[in-house]
Order: sequence, then C-alpha cells, then structure tokens
Amino acid sequence: MCGIVGAVGLINCGDTLLDALRRLEYRGYDSAGIVTHNGNGFEIARSVGKLTSLDSLVRKKPLGGNIGIGHTRWATHGGVTEENAHPHIAADRVVIVHNGIIENHRQLRSRLEQVGHVFRSDTDSEVLAHLYVDALNTGLSLTEATRNVLDAIEGAYAFAALANDYPDMLVVARNASPLAIGLGDKASFIGSDAIALAHLTRRVIYLKDNDFAIVKAEGATVFDVNGISVERDEVIVAASPGLVDKGGYRHYMEKEIHEQPDAIAHSLAAMTGTDGRIAAPMSREQLQGISSIVMLAAGTSHYASLVARYWIEGLARVPVTCEIASEYRYRKPVTNHFSMAIAISQSGESLDTLMAMRHAAESGLQTVGLVNVPGSTVAREADVVMPTRAGPEIGVASTKAFTAQLTVLISFSVALAEAKRVITPERANKIHSQIQALPGLVGRALTSFNSIRTISHDLASARSALFLGRDVLYPLALEGALKLKELSYIHAEGFASGEMKHGPIALIEDGLPVIAMLAADELLGKAASNLREASARGGNIILLTDERAVSEVDFAQSVITVPYIDPLLAPILLAVPAQILAYLTAVEKGTDVDQPRNLAKSVTVE
Ligand code: F6R
Repeated sequence: MCGIVGAVGLINCGDTLLDALRRLEYRGYDSAGIVTHNGNGFEIARSVGKLTSLDSLVRKKPLGGNIGIGHTRWATHGGVTEENAHPHIAADRVVIVHNGIIENHRQLRSRLEQVGHVFRSDTDSEVLAHLYVDALNTGLSLTEATRNVLDAIEGAYAFAALANDYPDMLVVARNASPLAIGLGDKASFIGSDAIALAHLTRRVIYLKDNDFAIVKAEGATVFDVNGISVERDEVIVAASPGLVDKGGYRHYMEKEIHEQPDAIAHSLAAMTGTDGRIAAPMSREQLQGISSIVMLAAGTSHYASLVARYWIEGLARVPVTCEIASEYRYRKPVTNHFSMAIAISQSGESLDTLMAMRHAAESGLQTVGLVNVPGSTVAREADVVMPTRAGPEIGVASTKAFTAQLTVLISFSVALAEAKRVITPERANKIHSQIQALPGLVGRALTSFNSIRTISHDLASARSALFLGRDVLYPLALEGALKLKELSYIHAEGFASGEMKHGPIALIEDGLPVIAMLAADELLGKAASNLREASARGGNIILLTDERAVSEVDFAQSVITVPYIDPLLAPILLAVPAQILAYLTAVEKGTDVDQPRNLAKSVTVE
C-alpha cells in the first residue's frame, strides 16, 4: 500500500529518497514521485508504473536540495495517472505525500474550491496541501496550520508535508496508518516503516495515533492531539542486512518459500521455555482463565486462524470463533462471552485487523497480537504479543509468515491444553516432538520444488481450478486457492471435500484441475472417496499428500508427496507444495510474482 519517505539534512537527498522508496516497493504501488526543496523552490518528479521510470526521470534531471519527501502510490481515489501520483503541490507553496483515506475529502474540496483553490488531481490526498495553504494564508505558523489541518480531516492517514516558507523542516502526522521517524547523524528521516530507513538509521520514533511532529535535521519534536509537545520513546530497531536482497533467488517469494525451515525454527524458539518445553507468553493462571477466543485476521492470516480453530478446540477444548477482520466491528458482534481476542497479522499494520482488535479491546477483551513485524501498530497496542520470527516478508503473497503463524498457533494450542490439563502428557510430548521436527521436515518438503514444474506448466493454461481438503486441510484448501489466484490470476476456489456433493461438484468437467490435499488421518477413507467422486466426473486430480496417505489413492493424475507428520500438523507441511505450485504457475505465466497486480503488502486502508 502507499509508502511514504522523507529526509532532511542530507546533501542532494533525491537519491536517498529513491533508495528508501525501493525498500517500500514490496508494499505494492502503481505510481511514484519525489519532491525536494532546493532553497529557492520545489523540484518534483512523478511517474506512473515502476520505480525504474521515476529513476530514469531523476537520472535525466537530478533533484537538488537537502530536504524532500517521496511516495509510492497504490490507487484508491482516482486512476493511475501522473496527475494523481504524489507528491501533490498547492499554490507552489505546500507539497504533501499521504497514505490512507481522507474520508471527508469531498466536503473539504468543495469548500476549498469555493474560495478559489484549483485542484489538479482526482485524489482525496490533494485536499491536505490546499488545507495547509488555506491555514498558512491566515498567518498561522506551520505547527498551528498542522493543528488546523488535523482538526479538519477525518479518516485513517499518515502524511508528510513540506512548505516553501519553512524549507528546513518536514511535518508529519498519523492516525491509524503507520509512520516512523528515523534519527540520524545531522539528518532525520521519515518512512512508512522502519524497513524504508534500515540503511539510514536504526534509531526510530513511532508516532502514536493523532500525534504530529516537526522533523528537522537535528531531530524531531512530537506533539499530541492537543498540540502539546510530548516525549515519545526512541527505539533501536534490529539491523536487517540483506533486506532488499533476493539472496540469489529469482524472486523474493522463492527465497521466502525456502526460508521456511528457519522461519519456523525461530518462531518455535519464541514459544519455547527455558526448560525446553512449549510455553505461551502468558502465565499458567492466565491460560487457565481463557474461556473462549475470537480470532481476528484477514486473507492468509485469516486462513491460519481457521486452521488454529481445529487445534485449539480439538486439543484444549476452548471454543474459538474466527472473524474476517473487515466484517467484525461493523456487524456489532456480541463479545461478552469471549475472554480473549487474538489478532493475527504478518505486517501488524492491516487496518482492518487493527480496527477489529481495537474494537475487541474496547469491548473489554484481553488482546493478543500474533505479529511478524516487531514494533508494528498491532504489536504496540496488544496487551500481549505472541511473535512470529519469520524475518521480513517482502513478496506480497504471504508464505513463510503463514507457516510461522501456524507454528506459533499449534504451540499455543498445546500450551493451553496443558495448562487446562485436558491433554495427556504423552499426547502433548508427541505433538511437541513433531513440532520440533517441523524445520527438518519442511526442508524435505522443499525438495519437491523441481518436480512441481511439470505440473505447473500444465496448470498455467487452466482457466479455473478447485482446491479440496477436509478437517485441518480444509482451510489450507482455501489458502492454496488464494495463492493460485493472486499470483497467477487463474480463478480458483477452495472447498471442504465433503461439501462438494452439496453443490460445487457441478463445476467439475473434463480436465478441470482439482488440487486435493490429503493426510493419513482418520478421515482418509472419506476424503479419498470425495476425491474419487471428482475424478469420476473428469477432474484432473493433482494430489498433495504425505508418504503414508499416498498409497490410498490410485486415481490421481499427478502426485506431490511430503514426509509423513502427525496429521494435525499436515497443513504446515502441505502448505509448502501448495505455495510452490502457485509460485511456479505464476512464473510459467510470466506474472509479476512479487507484486501481483492490484495488490499491496500491507493494507493500510479499510
Ligand atoms: C495473501 C496475503 C494477504 C494477507 C492479508 C493480511 O497472500 O498475503 O491475504 O495475508 O492482507 O495481511 P497481514 O497478515 O499483514 O495482516
């Protein structure tokens, strides 16, 4: 989603801004721009498409000056055009970059137009620049003008502004959208996240909601919602060398698929106590007090929650409800029978999930943030953080974060079951040893990579595909379908295998790819029968299964086998071939694997 960067105090900061924008590319965007102030006026470059276009503009005409802001835009209001690309400038006096949505932009725009402001774009963002000009025209200082602007706007936003009258300072503000201020040596920076600034500084200040700040080369002054100067903690973010490095792989996604053994091992370490046993970041008493859980998440993270529901209910006998975050708070849910809300988010910045978690907190639930990005808004606001340690995930389609989430969630389920004494020590120990075996087994599952090429070659010409699974593999079927559609743009649907006969089986025609997930569990016979029904009607069965279950199926056209694991954990192992299949099909089709069309990595609008 839109990315914001800024720098003050660096000679010829144009290149630095471009470099910082490259680090935000993973968030997804469709146009980009940079503006600097050279002491006399603004120098601006904007272009549609990838950063390479902006880069060549800046090569031809370098941007001078030691202060500037930049932006990658993911279109919400107004098409993908140069006029709609940020930065937006008003009256040659103020430039702004913005992430989020100004919900009352129509009213503001018509009021401003009535007093003579001329708009050049269709965006909601441009009103910010005009509001600033309006306020400065009345003689207000930049700080006072900012207070005025913040009073006027509604919605979720992070923005940065630079005014001609104040060419040595940036002003930034946030409400619900992420923003970090980086403090360097005689220079300061701003970025939508610390990743954008990782090559410049590790000293970061995160603004709180409704804060704004004046950022100068020598540091930042933060103000709260009332315009009172406040202290916000400076944190040292982890150094992340090789952040924008593909590590010799063709795509970030390919690299991240291969990083899963490490991502799982590190995430498991975060859920292991000093005695080597599985532990949740809560006391035994807290765990015993959990009576029911609501899980809040979006997309792939939501599918992780659906898998976890089988685990938590099956092992710990605690009722679980899984909610799509964007639906949750608006349907006025009844919350009083829940004791805990777990918000699951790789980025920790998905606005839907953040708002759902806030709603749960306001309703009195204890909140747990299961997040991959330390210091993200969900991590900062949750009562308890249960981290995944997958490392930065740059590919837009989530892979290693998903299996890391599942690793943490199965560990949490066992810890909960043990605290509630509803699992035998033998069963808990057996699952524990299987969880510990995961990194090695996932490593073995990755060896199927090359054998999947032929299957994806054929799948690439399909117009549609079905994914089927039963029990814990049903949510994985949903996830497999999401991966295929978002990466290769092939229409795909996931179904519970047993549900096929209630309608979806009508879709099956000769040659339709049916990607079936099967584990050697107690439902193997029934699940195999469901698949046989699809095969008998002409479905082209592509089986993702384990070494034991494979012998039960003699009707699949293609088979991808992973090592045997306790069927409870099968979604973690079978996620690997499902990801590889989607990845290789997308490569075969030549789509933009790391940044599929229309998608953003961190979805910071509702
Ligand atoms: C799909 C994908 C998305 C995200 C979703 C939530 O591959 O990555 O569906 O899972 O946008 O994102 P987070 O987990 O960052 O809240």
